[in-house]
Amino acid sequence: MSLDEYYDVALDLVKQAGAIIREKIDRPKDIAMKSCDVDLVTESDKQVEKLFIGGISSRYPDHRFIGEETTASGLKAQLTDAPTWIIDPIDGTMNFVHGLPHTCISVALLVDKVTEMGFVYNPIIEQLFIARRGQGASLNGKPIKVSGEKELKKALLMTEMGTSRNPEKIKTVMDNLQILVPKVHGVRTLGSAALNMCMVAMGGADVNFEFGVHVWDFAAGDIIVREAGGVVIDPAGGSLDLMSGRVLCASSMELANEIVKQLVQYYPERD
Ligand code: IPD
Ligand code: CA
Repeated sequence: MSLDEYYDVALDLVKQAGAIIREKIDRPKDIAMKSCDVDLVTESDKQVEKLFIGGISSRYPDHRFIGEETTASGLKAQLTDAPTWIIDPIDGTMNFVHGLPHTCISVALLVDKVTEMGFVYNPIIEQLFIARRGQGASLNGKPIKVSGEKELKKALLMTEMGTSRNPEKIKTVMDNLQILVPKVHGVRTLGSAALNMCMVAMGGADVNFEFGVHVWDFAAGDIIVREAGGVVIDPAGGSLDLMSGRVLCASSMELANEIVKQLVQYYPERD
């Protein structure tokens, strides 16, 4: 097994995927609904996932995959010790549908359930975030670091409205905004869970949390934030559980703990 080789193959596929997203973003799209009318999938989501899975499995037939669109078509996500690629072919599908240039492909490789590498690529504005375990994180080849901010009142916070119409989930989002807006520097919701985490990794934001995300939304962001010196935990405190649908990342443990104290919790269905 050569992680370096896997890295080279994955990077090439991520760039090919980026070319598809870039070419399609300002063209008419074939759009379908998934769990509800704001949970969308396009032909390009499916095309990118097929390209990535095809490219890896033709070289490494024993590798496994957890892909957003293959899971949506009925395959239950299963994380085993086998080398497993966790793929979000287009994160920020709603942005992609509208032509908002904040959208990306997100890919992570786990071996023995440990994340070895993560890629988040926004091909529209050319932001390529990469991390490998123990080797740091980079943006377009340059090392990145979290801001190190510790204080809630100086923090720029990111979160998402999510892609669910569940009234209890929407109420939790609104309750948390009501609590946090008066306490932080500002709140941003840009429409991509993976890119939110990369904003924390590069020091452009200080904290991000979301309930109701999926493992493909944050597996790559998790290693990118940690390798940039940040922390990624469960929003109630304690270790991150990749299959829990819950994530909180921050520029420091002090700040993460401050947010934990404030949050109204929500426990979505597990992946
Ligand atoms: C979604 C986006 C959105 C977040 C959702 C994700 P998708 O992913 O990241 O910002 O709020 O939780 O599922 O559907 O665009 O791949
Ligand atoms: Ca996603």
